[in-house]
Order: sequence, then C-alpha cells, then structure tokens
Amino acid sequence: MKRTIYFAFLYLFGTSIGKPNAVTQHVSPSKPTPTEIFGNSWQLDSDGSYWLFWKTNTTHITFETHVKTKGYVGFGLSSNGKMFPSDVVVGWVDSNGTAHFKDCHTEGHYAPTIDSSQDWMLLQGLEDNFGTVLKFVRKLDTCDDKDYQITDNTIKVIYSYHPDDPASFDTLPWHGANRQGAKSVMLLSAVKSNDYQLPPDAEQFDILHNNFHVPANTDTTYQCKIFKVPEKPSKRHIIRFEPIITRGNEDVVHHFVVFSCPTATDNDEGSVFNCYGVRPKKYEKCNDILLAWAIGGVGYDFPHNAGFSLNAPGDPQYLILETHFTNPTLKSGMGAK
Ligand SMILES: *[C@@H]1O[C@H](CO)[C@@H](O)[C@H](O)[C@H]1NC(C)=O
Ligand SMILES: *[C@@H]1O[C@H](CO)[C@@H](O)[C@H](O)[C@H]1NC(C)=O
Repeated sequence: MKRTIYFAFLYLFGTSIGKPNAVTQHVSPSKPTPTEIFGNSWQLDSDGSYWLFWKTNTTHITFETHVKTKGYVGFGLSSNGKMFPSDVVVGWVDSNGTAHFKDCHTEGHYAPTIDSSQDWMLLQGLEDNFGTVLKFVRKLDTCDDKDYQITDNTIKVIYSYHPDDPASFDTLPWHGANRQGAKSVMLLSAVKSNDYQLPPDAEQFDILHNNFHVPANTDTTYQCKIFKVPEKPSKRHIIRFEPIITRGNEDVVHHFVVFSCPTATDNDEGSVFNCYGVRPKKYEKCNDILLAWAIGGVGYDFPHNAGFSLNAPGDPQYLILETHFTNPTLKSGMGAK
C-alpha cells in the first residue's frame, strides 16, 4: 500500500462586489487553540504532539508552544538542527500551577546549561486539555553570544518534551529519542502577517493533488495537475495563499510551484502527469511562476494595498500545480488514507 497525499494550495480572492462568502477554515481537529491570534503556526512533529505559534515585529519574536505533555518542554534554535550547540529554553508547569522557565544553551550530550543572561522571557505558562502551553518573547538579536540571532534566513527549530516534571533545572531527565526533533522554519520571511483580517467577501479556492499515491519505488516524484481559474464576472485579486498538507505527510512534500499556463484549454482541466524533467509538449511554455512554496514556508498575505490580478484580460486562466514529493527512504504503507 502506498501513502496517499492530499496536497493543496489555497488562495483567496478579494472581491469588490458580490455577497459575502464564508471562508472555510482549514484547521485540523486536534490543533490546539493559541491564547491569542498568532500570524503563524506550525506542527513540528509528525503526530501532532508539538505545535509552535509565533509572531514577530521589527525587534521581537513571541513564541507559544502547545505540547501534549504535562511534563517539561524544550524548545530552541540551532544552526544545523542538532541538539548542540543550540540556544534553548526549558519550561514546565508544576502540580501547583506554577510555571518554571529558563533561557539555556546546550554544549553536548547532556542537559542544557542555564545562560547567565536570561533573554527569553516567559509571558505565560499553563496546562490545559491539550497539554502544556508556554508563551515567551525575546529580542531578535539579544546580544548574548549564547543566544542565536534570528534573521530572515531559514532557521532550524529544535524541540523536545518529557512526560514528567523534573525536580529542578539541574535534574532534567533525558527526553528520549522519540520525543525530540528539528524542523526548518523561516521565522521572519514569507509568513502570514499578524492579525490580518480577510475582507468579508473573500472567497477561497483550493487546488489539490487529491488522493495522490506517492510512489514507493523512487525517491523523487514531480507530479503536475492542471487547474482552471474560476470564472468570475469581474476582476479579482489573490490576497493570501496557504499550503494545505495532509497531517502526517509533511515529510514527503518537498516543494511546489504554481505556473500560469496560457496554452492549456478547458479540455486540459484536471489533467495529471509526471513532470520530472520534461513536460508534455503542449505545456512546455507554461513557465511563468505565480506562487511557490518550500519546506519551512507557511503561507503569505499580500500587503493590504496589493494583490495578484485574476479575471482581467491577459490574466492567467489555467494553472499548473507542480509538486515535488520526496521519499528518500522509499517508504510505503505508511499512513494511507
Ligand atoms: C514588538 O514586540 C515587543 C514584544 O511584544 C513589544 O514589547 C514592542 O513594543 C513591540 N514593538 C513595536 C514597535 O511594536
Ligand atoms: C506545591 O505547594 C505546596 C505547598 O506550598 C508545596 O509543599 C509543594 O512542594 C509544591 N509543589 C511543587 C511541585 O512545587
């Protein structure tokens, strides 16, 4: 049995006329609810036990972790995704409801060392039905050489957790091999803006590789599908896009690109083909890139006074969604839906 991927790309149209449409929310049922609106969220592990929410301004970044544990939680930044050397925080909420939190760094295969300069600040710590919530803020550049400077580069975030509270920061038990990991994230760039309110008449259009089986006999699959831009009586604008990736399949979606395809016709709508290297001849000229996403990307809002025009003369009518699925270990039979 092969893995099935529902992979999609969503965007919304700002309209100037027409009746308001409800905007469907793509929220997975087990996604925890943050304590406030954060522009960005990311499931860090594959089984949905560790969620990161964050928002930034020009000087600070605020994180909120929601982790399925009543024990301690570790979170950090690393240049190479390894557990050391890295800039980490450790926190937990004890049985009296008191939150404990420290800015630390790691130097080796042993528990983190507390920084002499405490630059990550706890704002809130609590336990809820999901698990443990820690909300904390730091400067993008703390000027502490034990802290990682946050820039608009891709950053590796590392995470860990443990089922139990430690007695103290000096006696942290090891989290174990399965309750830890690393993920590449662009914390500052190409992220959805904070508190962005969609207009009430915004509409959503999903383009999906619905029910695609990632082959288990190759590590690289480029799959393409043709979509028609919905016809509307007047001009629309793309104002947001978001990736939709089936939970549990995050590791096999490497990147995707949406091209405009002027040579496609209504007959091509829904066509699927393998597009590793060459495309069918009639789609060879479809090289104008509309949107792109890669691992670490979370979605994008256009600035308030900008959008990508659709439905006006000369605008794209047909799109190609080209997705690179990666299966380096040639796994099969995992998580079929
Ligand atoms: C940026 O965020 C920090 C932390 O929330 C806040 O203290 C600071 O005032 C904010 N700066 C601006 C310019 O909004
Ligand atoms: C909770 O509070 C009680 C009473 O102050 C104290 O004896 C106990 O050690 C506290 N528990 C923890 C985990 O701090």
